[in-house]
Amino acid sequence: GDSDINTEVVVLGSGPGGYTAAFRAADLGKQVVLIERYSTLGGVCLNVGCIPSKALLHTAKVITEAEETSHHGVSFGKPEIKLDELRNWKANDVVAKLTGGLAQMAKQRGVTVVQGVGQFTSSNQIAVTATDGKVTTVGFQNAIIAAGSQATKFPGAPEDERIMDSTGALALADVPKRLLVIGGGIIGLEMGTVYDALGSKVSVVEFMDGLIPGADRDLIRPLQKRMEKRFENIMLSTKVAKMEAKKDGIHVSFEGENAPKETQIYDRVLVSIGRRPNGKNIGAENAGVAVDDRGFIAVDKQMRTNVPHIFAIGDIVGQPMLAHKATHEAKVAAEVIAGHKVEFQAMVIPSVAYTDPEVAWVGVTETEAKAQGLAIEKASFPWAASGRALSIARSEGATKLIFDKETHRVIGAGIVGTNAGELLAEAVLAIEMGADAHDLGLTIHAHPTLSETICFAAEMKEGTITDLY
Ligand code: FAD
Ligand code: NAI
Repeated sequence: GDSDINTEVVVLGSGPGGYTAAFRAADLGKQVVLIERYSTLGGVCLNVGCIPSKALLHTAKVITEAEETSHHGVSFGKPEIKLDELRNWKANDVVAKLTGGLAQMAKQRGVTVVQGVGQFTSSNQIAVTATDGKVTTVGFQNAIIAAGSQATKFPGAPEDERIMDSTGALALADVPKRLLVIGGGIIGLEMGTVYDALGSKVSVVEFMDGLIPGADRDLIRPLQKRMEKRFENIMLSTKVAKMEAKKDGIHVSFEGENAPKETQIYDRVLVSIGRRPNGKNIGAENAGVAVDDRGFIAVDKQMRTNVPHIFAIGDIVGQPMLAHKATHEAKVAAEVIAGHKVEFQAMVIPSVAYTDPEVAWVGVTETEAKAQGLAIEKASFPWAASGRALSIARSEGATKLIFDKETHRVIGAGIVGTNAGELLAEAVLAIEMGADAHDLGLTIHAHPTLSETICFAAEMKEGTITDLY
């Protein structure tokens, strides 16, 4: 046709959804063009999300563990934090290695990367505008929309660089003396954990009556207890009434029972009140792709939009907005385009907050089971009875399994404690494979490990546990 480039498959956006879809389609023999507005591949997750936040959380953990070893007789001095070096390590040794690796892999597979902002101009063409204004048109047979999401802005907040979203917080411009986090969800608590360790006095304001509202309360309690000790203030059921940027700081007044009466002054504010999809910024209407009021694009189990040759994956198709969901959807879309008979059929999608302690959960939660009147049994093993947890001075954790009352199969799990995110994988596999308490209890777990707590929880349910150690 009359496009500058013609291709079998075009992928719009190079985050975990986009690059996975592009690579999978290329591996299946398709000719692929990958469009990304930024100069590096990897999207939010690699550049300003999952990866840089985990790098900084690692630093935070090293600092707090060093502080806490004073309780068992080993003291270090106050950490000296060289922000330039920390920033460089995050940017060059972690993020750039991964995004550079992606560029390499795209090249090896013959995936053509076109840099610029892509907009559909019809149901078979996308126009890509580069930063210098040059437009490249890409004609396609199939498209995969993987344009992701962006941080929700706080309504009415003044324009001021001290009022940041997660990208600003990850940039580590300085260590504010006092930081206010608006939104006690995953981003707020992960970044709050980082700044607390670096030396900020952190306050969190959350309008619901608990932190991370999606997880069971018994899993949140140990996290909240630790945060209450370390943070300046956690204000639940509280709203920000007013925010003003002044020379001496951001002046914030609050509303709610637990709210401070006086206006507070913060050096920086992190707004982490959720993310919204980019569905309204891609010219979807020109292709006839339906986008809802909030910017989400509806898809079927094969990741097809209402336009049969156009697919969508990742944050832009809905909750949960997680990288591992995006990559699995990406493979489905690419494989369907290549003619495979597949659909997205994950039984469960795990969630992990990489706070300290971590909180990880999957499948049916106890709260959901109660609300839906499901017949369940649960078993919860306290880490205070785990030899390994005590030996690493982190006995505040717990491992909980939720079983179907009739079949005794595992249908949900929740873990709070150090490394909970890694430990959860066994429970996810158990659910996918239809394992029951007996299977988990009879599996020999190495001693002493935190992973044993899954076996112990299963044995508690079976009534076969003999000793707690
Ligand atoms: P994105 O990663 O959002 O990628 C979309 C890409 O499309 C971007 O590169 C964007 O520039 C590009 N794009 C958009 N529109 C256009 C256009 N018109 N033209 C050209 N390019 C365009 N998830 C986890 O699972 N684990 C975590 O630990 C985790 N931590 C996070 C921490 C933070 C601070 C944040 C913000 C998010 C975190 N997430 C985490 C969520 C995760 O980053 C997202 O779920 C994931 O990146 C979604 O992937 P995606 O492919 O749908 O889109
Ligand atoms: P979130 O939806 O997880 O949490 C937002 C919190 O802010 C909620 O608790 C909500 O009740 C509260 N809130 C909303 N409006 C408010 C207001 N005006 N005042 C006070 N509180 C308010 O969103 P978050 O933390 O911004 O993260 C966005 C998404 O990014 C997550 O839902 C997740 O999908 C993804 N993510 C995943 C991570 C992981 O997997 N470890 C890490 C970080 C982000």
